Amino acid sequence: MSIKSLFPSSIVQTPLKFKGQSATRQNREFLSEIHKIREIDSAGREWSEENYPGGYTSYSSMNQLHRFSTTFEDLQKLIDKEVMKFAKHLEMDLQGGRLAMSNLWVNIMPPLVVHTMHIHPLSTISGTYYVQTPKNCSSIKFEDPRLGFFMASPPRKIKARPDNQRFITVQPKAGQLVLFESWMRHEVPPNAAQEERISLSFNYDWV
Ligand code: NI
Repeated sequence: MSIKSLFPSSIVQTPLKFKGQSATRQNREFLSEIHKIREIDSAGREWSEENYPGGYTSYSSMNQLHRFSTTFEDLQKLIDKEVMKFAKHLEMDLQGGRLAMSNLWVNIMPPLVVHTMHIHPLSTISGTYYVQTPKNCSSIKFEDPRLGFFMASPPRKIKARPDNQRFITVQPKAGQLVLFESWMRHEVPPNAAQEERISLSFNYDWV
């Protein structure tokens, strides 16, 4: 029987290579900047109290970190390359435009903090770079974008191939980048680690 699998939903998970130093050292540098950001960002801490209970995010306040320091500008340049490769893989026709990082922000998730299902509206490609991923920390969970249309379609076997699953969890590691198209619904389940899970998230827009 000839079967074609069509309409794929692609997710990238790849390590980032930093110039002249290991990801571990680079992440230490990111951590010290991230802690400073949390300290000075009172608007973000206030916003997080209401919208990200128990955690801290600079999503609504300091959300253009690539324009704020050269450390993050260098990170943006590295991510740019991976986003271009992903766009090429997806055969996106940008029609003379390009994909540009619009936002880059910090997420600090202490134990048990959750980030519920969401998309990244108005963007093209989104993703996260992982700075600190303690043992047992949350994965990122993606939902089949067709879920709302399934009606009488039976569930899939627990051990079904990844491309037949309706939810996929990606376990991130510090130093890795995860990329996906911004319309893919995803969530971060409760952080079961004893320590903070720390990441930098971003959007790329078609401009
Ligand atoms: Ni997200």
